[in-house]
Amino acid sequence: SQKWVLMVTAQTPTNIAVIKYWGKRDETLILPVNDSISVTLDPEHLCTTTTVAVSPSFDKDRMWLNGKEISLSGGRFQSCLREIRCRAGDVEDEKKGIKIAKKDWEKLHVHIASYNNFPTAAGLASSAAGLACLVFSLAKLMNVKEDHGKLSAIARQGSGSACRSLYGGFVKWIMGKDEKGSDSIAVQLADEKHWDDLVIVIAVVSSRQKETSSTTGMRETVETSMLLQHRAKEVVPKRILQMEEAIRNRDFASFAHLTCADSNQFHAVCLDTCPPIFYMNDTSHRIISIVEKWNRSEGTPQVAYTFDAGPNAVMIARNRKVAGVLLQKLLFYFPPQPDTDLNSYVIGDKSILK
Ligand code: PMV
Repeated sequence: SQKWVLMVTAQTPTNIAVIKYWGKRDETLILPVNDSISVTLDPEHLCTTTTVAVSPSFDKDRMWLNGKEISLSGGRFQSCLREIRCRAGDVEDEKKGIKIAKKDWEKLHVHIASYNNFPTAAGLASSAAGLACLVFSLAKLMNVKEDHGKLSAIARQGSGSACRSLYGGFVKWIMGKDEKGSDSIAVQLADEKHWDDLVIVIAVVSSRQKETSSTTGMRETVETSMLLQHRAKEVVPKRILQMEEAIRNRDFASFAHLTCADSNQFHAVCLDTCPPIFYMNDTSHRIISIVEKWNRSEGTPQVAYTFDAGPNAVMIARNRKVAGVLLQKLLFYFPPQPDTDLNSYVIGDKSILK
């Protein structure tokens, strides 16, 4: 019969870089100019849920994002679909009486429905969760027998930061040396249980879509910023080693110092781009000042901050108690008003919301 549908649903959290990826050495394969390290968030809060379906009655590949159909014609979607399809295996569902042979996948089409439970393209790394989830769910549907490293290299071709969302905990994306990108993969540095005192608080300064996409921004930075060369060659390699050590030893002072410095340098290379790119706004700058002053007054860092390609603040508190104080401070400096543009998402421990 031609009536059957086979479906797989997967959920993937987003990740936040503490040592940033910014700049590609190959735009098509998405190969970065430096290694990066991230922390994967708790799936409950910022994540993508994707259902992929295959049926002989589908006449083309189609995708819906948050209920709205989007085009799959972009090169990045096509790369991911192609890479997964050519690794598809035999699939058998005895209960439904479905048998798909390896070679059948070339002729079959998929429907993909994806939902983000957070603002899309607002500098909250929605593409990371989205593309990682797409690759993972398609790989499950098509019975692809590759390890997470190989899948991360496929997700990377959808969106660079997506390769890091294939694992929980702390993850390193190794830039690799190969021209074809076979060694540009993500590896897990430590699992989610390794340092579970940390609490991540995200202040959504603005949920509007960012003005300069990361693709355009990176291209302009690579073409015009001298500071980026220095960052990629001289600064990041040392920071990666220091960050790995800080994570291994759960050394919050070093972790916070490196995280804040790297976020600031990433925004400095944006400013060093011609024309300059501004991702942070006045509210972001005020948050930095508040955290810096607080950390200094305590004598040892309590909270680390980091900002991606947008004004939203991601703050990592050393423990639950500190996260509680952080929220009080945020509410004090940014009291909720009808026209305020600051809302907080609390990641990692829901009880703090009460
Ligand atoms: O993977 P992209 O194209 O969304 O770029 C992500 C870039 C940053 O979020 C700013 C940094 C990072 O390493 O995630």
